[in-house]
Amino acid sequence: MKNKIFHPYTTFSAIEKGFPNMVRGEGIYLFDDQGKQYVDMVSSWWACALGHGHPKVVKAIQEQASILQHSITGCLTHPNVLALADRLAKLMPTPERHTLFASDGCSAVEAALKITIQYWYNLDRPEKTWVIGMDQGYHGDSLGALGAGFVDGFHKPFEQVVMHHAKLPFPLPTADDPDGFLPSKQVIEEHADKLAAVIVEPLCLGSAGMKIYSADYLKELADCCAENEVLLIIDEVAMGFGRTGQRFAFNHAGIDPDLVTVGKALTAGYMPMSACIVKDKIYDTFSDTGEKDCTFYHGNTYAGHPIGCAAALAALDIYEAEDTVERAAEMAEKMKHWMQPMAEIGCVKELRFLGMIGVVELKPEAKPLVAQIKQALFEQGYLFRPLGNVFYLMPPLIITDDELRAAVYALQQTLEEFC
Ligand SMILES: Cc1ncc(COP(=O)(O)O)c(C=O)c1O
Repeated sequence: MKNKIFHPYTTFSAIEKGFPNMVRGEGIYLFDDQGKQYVDMVSSWWACALGHGHPKVVKAIQEQASILQHSITGCLTHPNVLALADRLAKLMPTPERHTLFASDGCSAVEAALKITIQYWYNLDRPEKTWVIGMDQGYHGDSLGALGAGFVDGFHKPFEQVVMHHAKLPFPLPTADDPDGFLPSKQVIEEHADKLAAVIVEPLCLGSAGMKIYSADYLKELADCCAENEVLLIIDEVAMGFGRTGQRFAFNHAGIDPDLVTVGKALTAGYMPMSACIVKDKIYDTFSDTGEKDCTFYHGNTYAGHPIGCAAALAALDIYEAEDTVERAAEMAEKMKHWMQPMAEIGCVKELRFLGMIGVVELKPEAKPLVAQIKQALFEQGYLFRPLGNVFYLMPPLIITDDELRAAVYALQQTLEEFC
Protein backbone atom coordinates (compact mmCIF):
# COMPACT_ATOMS: atom_id res chain seq x y z
CA MET A 1 0.00 0.00 0.00
CA LYS A 2 1.36 3.47 -0.89
CA ASN A 3 2.09 5.58 2.18
CA LYS A 4 -0.36 8.50 2.11
CA ILE A 5 0.56 9.88 5.53
CA PHE A 6 1.87 13.46 5.85
CA HIS A 7 4.18 12.45 8.70
CA PRO A 8 4.95 14.98 11.43
CA TYR A 9 8.62 15.82 12.04
CA THR A 10 9.71 13.36 9.34
CA THR A 11 12.04 14.12 6.44
CA PHE A 12 11.27 12.83 2.97
CA SER A 13 14.63 11.01 3.05
CA ALA A 14 13.49 9.09 6.13
CA ILE A 15 10.24 8.17 4.37
CA GLU A 16 12.20 6.93 1.35
CA LYS A 17 14.36 4.69 3.54
CA GLY A 18 11.22 3.35 5.19
CA PHE A 19 10.50 2.62 8.82
CA PRO A 20 8.71 -0.02 10.87
CA ASN A 21 5.01 -0.46 11.15
CA MET A 22 4.30 -0.68 14.88
CA VAL A 23 1.38 -2.96 15.66
CA ARG A 24 1.50 -3.53 19.39
CA GLY A 25 2.88 -2.14 22.63
CA GLU A 26 3.58 -3.81 25.95
CA GLY A 27 5.51 -2.40 28.89
CA ILE A 28 8.55 -0.49 27.64
CA TYR A 29 8.37 -2.21 24.23
CA LEU A 30 6.84 -1.49 20.86
CA PHE A 31 6.51 -4.41 18.43
CA ASP A 32 6.59 -4.08 14.65
CA ASP A 33 4.65 -6.17 12.14
CA GLN A 34 7.67 -8.48 11.79
CA GLY A 35 7.55 -9.26 15.52
CA LYS A 36 10.72 -7.28 16.30
CA GLN A 37 10.67 -5.42 19.62
CA TYR A 38 12.01 -1.94 20.30
CA VAL A 39 12.59 -0.28 23.67
CA ASP A 40 10.65 2.99 23.62
CA MET A 41 13.43 5.27 24.88
CA VAL A 42 11.31 8.38 24.26
CA SER A 43 8.12 7.11 25.93
CA SER A 44 6.28 7.77 22.64
CA TRP A 45 6.92 11.50 22.44
CA TRP A 46 7.40 11.72 26.23
CA ALA A 47 3.80 10.71 26.97
CA CYS A 48 3.70 7.03 27.94
CA ALA A 49 5.01 7.34 31.49
CA LEU A 50 3.43 3.98 32.36
CA GLY A 51 4.70 2.26 29.25
CA HIS A 52 2.34 0.53 26.85
CA GLY A 53 -0.72 -1.57 27.57
CA HIS A 54 -1.02 -0.84 31.29
CA PRO A 55 -4.04 -3.06 32.12
CA LYS A 56 -5.69 -0.62 34.53
CA VAL A 57 -5.68 2.29 32.07
CA VAL A 58 -6.80 0.01 29.25
CA LYS A 59 -9.66 -1.30 31.40
CA ALA A 60 -10.78 2.22 32.38
CA ILE A 61 -10.88 3.21 28.70
CA GLN A 62 -12.80 0.07 27.72
CA GLU A 63 -15.35 0.50 30.50
CA GLN A 64 -15.92 4.17 29.77
CA ALA A 65 -16.21 3.47 26.04
CA SER A 66 -19.15 1.21 26.77
CA ILE A 67 -20.97 3.81 28.90
CA LEU A 68 -20.59 7.32 27.46
CA GLN A 69 -18.32 8.05 24.50
CA HIS A 70 -18.80 11.78 24.20
CA SER A 71 -20.79 14.54 25.78
CA ILE A 72 -19.72 18.15 25.59
CA THR A 73 -18.64 20.37 28.47
CA GLY A 74 -20.26 23.54 27.08
CA CYS A 75 -23.32 24.05 29.34
CA LEU A 76 -23.19 20.33 30.27
CA THR A 77 -21.05 18.22 32.51
CA HIS A 78 -20.42 14.55 33.30
CA PRO A 79 -19.04 12.63 36.30
CA ASN A 80 -15.56 11.97 34.92
CA VAL A 81 -14.77 15.56 34.06
CA LEU A 82 -16.06 16.76 37.44
CA ALA A 83 -13.86 14.23 39.22
CA LEU A 84 -10.79 15.03 37.13
CA ALA A 85 -11.06 18.81 37.59
CA ASP A 86 -11.35 18.28 41.33
CA ARG A 87 -8.41 15.91 41.35
CA LEU A 88 -6.15 18.23 39.36
CA ALA A 89 -6.96 21.17 41.62
CA LYS A 90 -5.93 19.09 44.63
CA LEU A 91 -2.57 18.29 43.04
CA MET A 92 -1.70 21.99 42.96
CA PRO A 93 0.03 23.77 45.89
CA THR A 94 -3.21 25.70 46.45
CA PRO A 95 -6.41 23.94 45.37
CA GLU A 96 -8.47 27.04 44.57
CA ARG A 97 -8.44 26.35 40.84
CA HIS A 98 -10.66 25.65 37.85
CA THR A 99 -9.48 23.55 34.92
CA LEU A 100 -10.14 24.12 31.25
CA PHE A 101 -9.73 20.90 29.31
CA ALA A 102 -8.32 20.64 25.79
CA SER A 103 -7.06 17.94 23.45
CA ASP A 104 -3.28 18.09 23.18
CA GLY A 105 -0.42 20.05 24.67
CA CYS A 106 -0.54 22.95 22.27
CA SER A 107 -4.29 23.42 22.61
CA ALA A 108 -3.86 23.69 26.40
CA VAL A 109 -1.07 26.21 25.82
CA GLU A 110 -3.23 28.23 23.38
CA ALA A 111 -5.95 28.35 26.02
CA ALA A 112 -3.44 29.49 28.65
CA LEU A 113 -2.14 32.30 26.42
CA LYS A 114 -5.66 33.52 25.69
CA ILE A 115 -6.80 33.22 29.32
CA THR A 116 -3.94 35.44 30.48
CA ILE A 117 -4.59 38.04 27.77
CA GLN A 118 -8.31 38.09 28.46
CA TYR A 119 -7.71 38.25 32.22
CA TRP A 120 -6.17 41.70 31.80
CA TYR A 121 -8.94 42.70 29.39
CA ASN A 122 -11.46 41.61 32.02
CA LEU A 123 -9.68 43.88 34.53
CA ASP A 124 -9.74 46.82 32.09
CA ARG A 125 -6.02 46.57 31.42
CA PRO A 126 -6.24 45.81 27.66
CA GLU A 127 -2.72 47.07 27.04
CA LYS A 128 -1.29 43.92 28.67
CA THR A 129 -1.26 41.58 25.67
CA TRP A 130 2.23 40.15 25.44
CA VAL A 131 2.99 36.62 26.50
CA ILE A 132 6.70 35.93 26.38
CA GLY A 133 8.68 32.78 26.82
CA MET A 134 12.26 31.66 26.87
CA ASP A 135 14.52 31.82 23.88
CA GLN A 136 14.36 28.39 22.16
CA GLY A 137 11.45 27.35 24.40
CA TYR A 138 8.86 24.99 22.94
CA HIS A 139 5.16 24.97 23.73
CA GLY A 140 3.66 23.23 20.70
CA ASP A 141 3.24 23.87 16.99
CA SER A 142 0.21 26.16 16.75
CA LEU A 143 1.01 29.76 15.81
CA GLY A 144 0.35 31.20 19.27
CA ALA A 145 2.48 28.55 20.95
CA LEU A 146 5.26 29.12 18.40
CA GLY A 147 5.39 32.82 19.23
CA ALA A 148 5.67 32.11 22.94
CA GLY A 149 8.64 29.86 22.31
CA PHE A 150 10.40 29.42 18.98
CA VAL A 151 12.95 26.73 18.20
CA ASP A 152 15.11 27.93 15.27
CA GLY A 153 15.59 24.43 13.90
CA PHE A 154 11.83 23.78 13.55
CA HIS A 155 10.08 27.08 13.09
CA LYS A 156 12.05 29.26 10.67
CA PRO A 157 9.36 29.38 7.92
CA PHE A 158 6.91 30.95 10.38
CA GLU A 159 9.19 33.66 11.75
CA GLN A 160 7.26 36.44 10.03
CA VAL A 161 3.81 35.40 11.18
CA VAL A 162 4.15 34.59 14.87
CA MET A 163 3.96 37.06 17.78
CA HIS A 164 7.46 38.42 18.10
CA HIS A 165 7.89 39.94 21.47
CA ALA A 166 10.82 39.97 23.82
CA LYS A 167 12.30 36.65 24.95
CA LEU A 168 13.83 35.60 28.24
CA PRO A 169 17.40 34.53 27.56
CA PHE A 170 18.30 30.98 28.60
CA PRO A 171 19.78 31.33 32.12
CA LEU A 172 23.58 31.32 32.14
CA PRO A 173 24.92 31.46 35.70
CA THR A 174 27.83 33.80 36.44
CA ALA A 175 29.75 34.60 39.63
CA ASP A 176 27.57 37.68 40.28
CA ASP A 177 24.36 36.04 39.16
CA PRO A 178 24.47 32.37 40.26
CA ASP A 179 21.02 31.51 38.82
CA GLY A 180 21.48 33.51 35.61
CA PHE A 181 18.28 35.37 36.41
CA LEU A 182 19.34 39.02 36.05
CA PRO A 183 18.97 39.25 32.23
CA SER A 184 15.43 37.80 32.51
CA LYS A 185 14.60 40.23 35.32
CA GLN A 186 15.61 43.11 33.08
CA VAL A 187 13.34 41.91 30.26
CA ILE A 188 10.35 41.52 32.59
CA GLU A 189 10.83 44.87 34.28
CA GLU A 190 11.32 46.67 30.99
CA HIS A 191 8.09 45.33 29.44
CA ALA A 192 5.93 44.79 32.55
CA ASP A 193 3.30 47.32 31.45
CA LYS A 194 2.63 45.28 28.27
CA LEU A 195 3.15 41.82 29.69
CA ALA A 196 0.09 39.63 30.28
CA ALA A 197 2.18 36.60 31.20
CA VAL A 198 5.43 34.73 31.03
CA ILE A 199 5.36 31.07 29.96
CA VAL A 200 8.20 28.64 30.57
CA GLU A 201 9.03 24.97 30.36
CA PRO A 202 9.99 24.26 33.98
CA LEU A 203 13.65 23.33 34.53
CA CYS A 204 14.19 21.76 31.11
CA LEU A 205 13.84 23.07 27.56
CA GLY A 206 12.95 19.73 26.02
CA SER A 207 12.75 20.27 22.29
CA ALA A 208 15.68 22.70 22.32
CA GLY A 209 17.87 19.73 23.27
CA MET A 210 17.07 19.03 26.93
CA LYS A 211 18.71 22.23 28.19
CA ILE A 212 18.45 22.22 31.98
CA TYR A 213 18.32 25.21 34.31
CA SER A 214 18.03 25.60 38.06
CA ALA A 215 15.01 25.53 40.35
CA ASP A 216 16.37 28.72 41.94
CA TYR A 217 15.94 30.52 38.60
CA LEU A 218 12.32 29.37 38.51
CA LYS A 219 11.74 30.65 42.05
CA GLU A 220 13.22 34.04 41.16
CA LEU A 221 11.11 34.14 38.02
CA ALA A 222 7.91 33.46 39.98
CA ASP A 223 8.75 36.19 42.51
CA CYS A 224 9.65 38.69 39.80
CA CYS A 225 6.42 38.02 37.86
CA ALA A 226 4.36 38.52 41.03
CA GLU A 227 6.16 41.79 41.86
CA ASN A 228 5.56 43.13 38.34
CA GLU A 229 1.90 42.14 37.90
CA VAL A 230 2.72 39.52 35.29
CA LEU A 231 1.03 36.10 35.34
CA LEU A 232 3.19 33.00 35.26
CA ILE A 233 2.24 29.99 33.11
CA ILE A 234 4.20 26.84 33.87
CA ASP A 235 4.02 24.45 30.93
CA GLU A 236 4.22 20.97 32.46
CA VAL A 237 3.10 19.20 29.27
CA ALA A 238 6.43 17.36 28.98
CA MET A 239 7.69 17.31 32.58
CA GLY A 240 4.51 16.71 34.57
CA PHE A 241 3.58 13.57 36.51
CA GLY A 242 6.95 12.41 37.79
CA ARG A 243 9.44 12.78 34.97
CA THR A 244 11.73 15.06 37.01
CA GLY A 245 11.46 13.09 40.26
CA GLN A 246 8.74 15.38 41.66
CA ARG A 247 5.08 15.29 40.66
CA PHE A 248 5.54 18.54 38.75
CA ALA A 249 8.86 20.10 37.83
CA PHE A 250 7.77 23.39 39.43
CA ASN A 251 7.55 21.55 42.79
CA HIS A 252 11.37 21.60 42.85
CA ALA A 253 11.16 25.40 43.14
CA GLY A 254 8.37 25.44 45.75
CA ILE A 255 6.30 27.90 43.69
CA ASP A 256 2.54 28.20 43.17
CA PRO A 257 2.07 29.09 39.48
CA ASP A 258 -0.93 31.09 38.25
CA LEU A 259 -1.62 28.65 35.42
CA VAL A 260 -0.31 25.16 34.77
CA THR A 261 -0.66 23.33 31.47
CA VAL A 262 -0.56 19.53 31.42
CA GLY A 263 -0.93 16.90 28.68
CA LYS A 264 0.98 13.82 27.51
CA ALA A 265 1.39 11.77 30.76
CA LEU A 266 -1.93 13.13 32.06
CA THR A 267 -3.57 10.11 30.40
CA ALA A 268 -0.33 8.08 30.40
CA GLY A 269 -0.32 8.97 26.70
CA TYR A 270 -3.29 6.67 25.97
CA MET A 271 -5.84 9.35 25.01
CA PRO A 272 -5.33 12.81 23.49
CA MET A 273 -6.20 15.07 26.37
CA SER A 274 -4.68 18.12 28.01
CA ALA A 275 -5.66 20.76 30.51
CA CYS A 276 -4.97 24.25 31.72
CA ILE A 277 -5.30 24.56 35.49
CA VAL A 278 -6.11 28.14 36.47
CA LYS A 279 -6.07 29.95 39.82
CA ASP A 280 -9.49 31.14 40.94
CA LYS A 281 -8.33 34.77 41.20
CA ILE A 282 -8.04 34.58 37.39
CA TYR A 283 -11.07 32.34 36.76
CA ASP A 284 -13.33 34.61 38.79
CA THR A 285 -12.82 37.51 36.37
CA PHE A 286 -14.46 35.56 33.51
CA SER A 287 -17.98 36.49 34.57
CA ASP A 288 -20.88 37.82 32.49
CA THR A 289 -22.67 39.33 35.47
CA GLY A 290 -20.77 42.63 35.58
CA GLU A 291 -20.92 45.55 33.16
CA LYS A 292 -19.23 43.66 30.37
CA ASP A 293 -19.49 40.06 29.27
CA CYS A 294 -16.18 38.43 30.23
CA THR A 295 -17.16 34.88 29.27
CA PHE A 296 -14.29 32.84 27.80
CA TYR A 297 -15.56 32.09 24.30
CA HIS A 298 -13.01 29.38 23.62
CA GLY A 299 -13.17 25.59 23.51
CA ASN A 300 -12.21 22.39 21.75
CA THR A 301 -14.60 19.69 20.54
CA TYR A 302 -12.95 17.11 22.77
CA ALA A 303 -12.57 19.32 25.87
CA GLY A 304 -13.21 17.04 28.84
CA HIS A 305 -13.80 14.01 26.64
CA PRO A 306 -15.27 11.26 28.89
CA ILE A 307 -12.90 8.51 27.71
CA GLY A 308 -9.90 10.83 28.01
CA CYS A 309 -10.97 11.71 31.55
CA ALA A 310 -11.36 8.02 32.41
CA ALA A 311 -7.82 7.36 31.18
CA ALA A 312 -6.50 10.34 33.17
CA LEU A 313 -8.27 9.31 36.37
CA ALA A 314 -6.86 5.78 36.02
CA ALA A 315 -3.35 7.12 35.33
CA LEU A 316 -3.49 9.42 38.37
CA ASP A 317 -4.62 6.46 40.52
CA ILE A 318 -1.67 4.41 39.30
CA TYR A 319 0.87 7.21 39.82
CA GLU A 320 -0.29 7.30 43.43
CA ALA A 321 -0.76 3.57 44.08
CA GLU A 322 2.54 2.56 42.48
CA ASP A 323 4.56 5.49 43.89
CA THR A 324 5.60 6.32 40.35
CA VAL A 325 7.10 9.70 41.28
CA GLU A 326 9.17 8.37 44.18
CA ARG A 327 10.28 5.43 42.07
CA ALA A 328 11.31 7.77 39.25
CA ALA A 329 13.43 9.79 41.69
CA GLU A 330 15.20 6.61 42.87
CA MET A 331 15.74 5.30 39.34
CA ALA A 332 17.09 8.69 38.31
CA GLU A 333 19.97 8.35 40.76
CA LYS A 334 20.85 4.93 39.35
CA MET A 335 20.63 6.15 35.76
CA LYS A 336 22.97 9.03 36.58
CA HIS A 337 25.47 6.65 38.14
CA TRP A 338 25.34 4.18 35.24
CA MET A 339 25.70 6.93 32.64
CA GLN A 340 28.82 8.53 34.17
CA PRO A 341 31.36 6.47 32.13
CA MET A 342 29.95 8.04 28.96
CA ALA A 343 31.55 11.36 29.96
CA GLU A 344 34.93 9.80 29.05
CA ILE A 345 33.97 8.98 25.45
CA GLY A 346 35.88 11.15 22.95
CA CYS A 347 32.90 12.63 21.10
CA VAL A 348 30.89 13.45 24.23
CA LYS A 349 30.73 17.13 25.14
CA GLU A 350 28.76 16.80 28.37
CA LEU A 351 26.22 14.78 30.33
CA ARG A 352 23.17 16.42 31.92
CA PHE A 353 20.54 15.00 34.23
CA LEU A 354 17.12 15.94 35.51
CA GLY A 355 15.14 13.14 37.14
CA MET A 356 14.44 10.44 34.58
CA ILE A 357 15.99 12.45 31.76
CA GLY A 358 19.57 11.51 31.00
CA VAL A 359 21.26 13.61 28.35
CA VAL A 360 24.40 12.95 26.32
CA GLU A 361 25.38 15.96 24.23
CA LEU A 362 27.94 15.17 21.54
CA LYS A 363 30.62 17.60 20.41
CA PRO A 364 29.56 19.65 17.36
CA GLU A 365 32.07 17.82 15.15
CA ALA A 366 30.29 14.52 15.92
CA LYS A 367 27.02 15.75 14.37
CA PRO A 368 27.53 13.78 11.12
CA LEU A 369 27.66 10.58 13.22
CA VAL A 370 24.29 11.10 14.88
CA ALA A 371 22.19 9.40 12.17
CA GLN A 372 24.50 6.36 12.10
CA ILE A 373 24.51 6.02 15.89
CA LYS A 374 20.73 6.29 15.98
CA GLN A 375 20.43 3.65 13.24
CA ALA A 376 22.84 1.27 14.99
CA LEU A 377 20.82 1.57 18.21
CA PHE A 378 17.63 1.03 16.28
CA GLU A 379 19.00 -2.19 14.81
CA GLN A 380 19.73 -3.34 18.37
CA GLY A 381 16.09 -2.64 19.25
CA TYR A 382 16.38 0.80 20.88
CA LEU A 383 14.20 3.64 19.70
CA PHE A 384 16.06 6.93 20.31
CA ARG A 385 15.12 10.28 18.75
CA PRO A 386 18.15 12.56 19.10
CA LEU A 387 17.62 16.32 19.04
CA GLY A 388 20.44 17.73 16.90
CA ASN A 389 23.58 16.25 18.45
CA VAL A 390 21.85 15.44 21.72
CA PHE A 391 20.98 11.85 22.63
CA TYR A 392 18.72 11.50 25.61
CA LEU A 393 17.08 8.75 27.65
CA MET A 394 13.49 9.43 28.59
CA PRO A 395 12.07 5.91 28.98
CA PRO A 396 8.72 4.98 30.53
CA LEU A 397 8.94 5.46 34.30
CA ILE A 398 8.04 1.80 34.82
CA ILE A 399 11.36 0.65 33.33
CA THR A 400 13.16 -1.85 35.56
CA ASP A 401 16.75 -1.61 36.79
CA ASP A 402 17.91 -4.32 34.39
CA GLU A 403 16.14 -2.81 31.41
CA LEU A 404 17.51 0.66 32.12
CA ARG A 405 21.02 -0.61 32.72
CA ALA A 406 20.92 -2.50 29.42
CA ALA A 407 19.72 0.62 27.57
CA VAL A 408 22.47 2.76 29.07
CA TYR A 409 25.03 0.14 28.16
CA ALA A 410 23.73 -0.11 24.58
CA LEU A 411 24.10 3.65 24.14
CA GLN A 412 27.56 3.65 25.72
CA GLN A 413 28.83 0.79 23.56
CA THR A 414 27.42 2.28 20.40
CA LEU A 415 28.94 5.69 21.12
CA GLU A 416 32.29 4.00 21.82
CA GLU A 417 32.06 2.14 18.55
CA PHE A 418 31.46 5.25 16.47
CA CYS A 419 33.64 7.83 18.23
C1 LIG B 1 6.62 21.73 26.96
C2 LIG B 1 5.68 21.36 25.86
N1 LIG B 1 4.55 22.06 25.72
C3 LIG B 1 3.65 21.76 24.76
C4 LIG B 1 3.89 20.74 23.87
C5 LIG B 1 2.91 20.45 22.78
O1 LIG B 1 2.24 19.29 23.04
P1 LIG B 1 1.43 18.53 21.86
O2 LIG B 1 2.48 17.97 20.96
O3 LIG B 1 0.64 17.50 22.58
O4 LIG B 1 0.59 19.57 21.20
C6 LIG B 1 5.06 19.98 23.99
C7 LIG B 1 5.33 18.86 23.07
O5 LIG B 1 6.36 18.24 23.07
C8 LIG B 1 5.98 20.30 25.00
O6 LIG B 1 7.14 19.62 25.14
